Amino acid sequence: EDAGLAARFQERVDAEERIEPNDWMPAAYRKTLTRQISQHAHSEIVGMLPEGNWITRAPSLRRKAALLAKVQDECGHGLYLYAAAETLGASREELVDQLLEGRAKYSSIFNYPTLTWADIGAVGWLVDGAAIMNQIPLCRCSYGPYARAMIRVCKEESFHQRQGYEIMVTLAKGTPEQKAMAQDALDRWWWPCLMMFGPPDAASQHSDQSTRWKIKRFSNDELRQKFVDATVPQAQYLGLTLPDPDLAFDEEAGHWRYGEIDWEEFKAVLAGNGPCNRDRLAARRKAHEEGAWVREAASAYAAKREARAAR
Ligand code: ACO
Repeated sequence: EDAGLAARFQERVDAEERIEPNDWMPAAYRKTLTRQISQHAHSEIVGMLPEGNWITRAPSLRRKAALLAKVQDECGHGLYLYAAAETLGASREELVDQLLEGRAKYSSIFNYPTLTWADIGAVGWLVDGAAIMNQIPLCRCSYGPYARAMIRVCKEESFHQRQGYEIMVTLAKGTPEQKAMAQDALDRWWWPCLMMFGPPDAASQHSDQSTRWKIKRFSNDELRQKFVDATVPQAQYLGLTLPDPDLAFDEEAGHWRYGEIDWEEFKAVLAGNGPCNRDRLAARRKAHEEGAWVREAASAYAAKREARAAR
């Protein structure tokens, strides 16, 4: 690669210019963005499954309408993100195949089950809360199409977070049984949510380069800390207890210090051995096969229109 072009590229990034699809970019920049954006897209699509599980069992019409809207938003986010990845030269078919064949990663968090209605509250509050923490800085990512997609995605995520927290408020202020359900969901989702931010900084292989390229604006540990600091007062307001005996406020630093994360569990989930990895991929494969006729019909229709226009 031309050293002059690479230097000019870094100058543009340093000057906070947005990089657009037709601009020159280092092959490794294209590669890491395709990786991150496609993993992000897969996460949105697989992320529809744990919550989709509760649409038919939502406790009221209002709850059902909100949950339906939320799951549809996630589908939309996945589609924007595949489109953003396509601007880098990858094809959507290729990316989807990588997911279905188990060759692509998606967020570890979506490999955990939603056992009760309270999980829908906990997922909205915590999973979407963590997603916002990670995605707000991505609105300033150096790659234009990704940054722009994140703006709308973040607005929708913030509605998702609120609908989840509102479910938690209702349960936590409800009967003792409801409050116990909310506590149980928090106990099960808390640690996996901390893992969403990725490995600790010292073990994060892509962080240094992605920070230089202004894809990442904060490190994995920085975002994790921001999330803990924002979430502890919310749990206190709910009257729920975070399942971490080591959690303590560090007066001097002004941060909530948390206990050891079980990185062995994280590795197992990434290796395909989380509680729901197999179910998630099986559900995506089934949906993909059952949707084949729609894709075929859409391309036949497009080809017909094109032929007609050419006449
Ligand atoms: N689940 C699955 N894989 C993960 C996770 C996670 N929670 N965290 C990190 N990884 C993977 C990385 O993708 C990378 O794998 P790869 O080399 O095979 O691509 C590896 O672990 C090492 O991690 P890092 O070097 O820290 O990777 P990176 O710099 O890409 O940082 C992060 C990881 C923070 C997740 C980043 O990719 C990111 O910000 N992605 C966009 C946001 C996103 O995908 N969110 C999805 C969940 S939110 C939602 O969908 C609602």
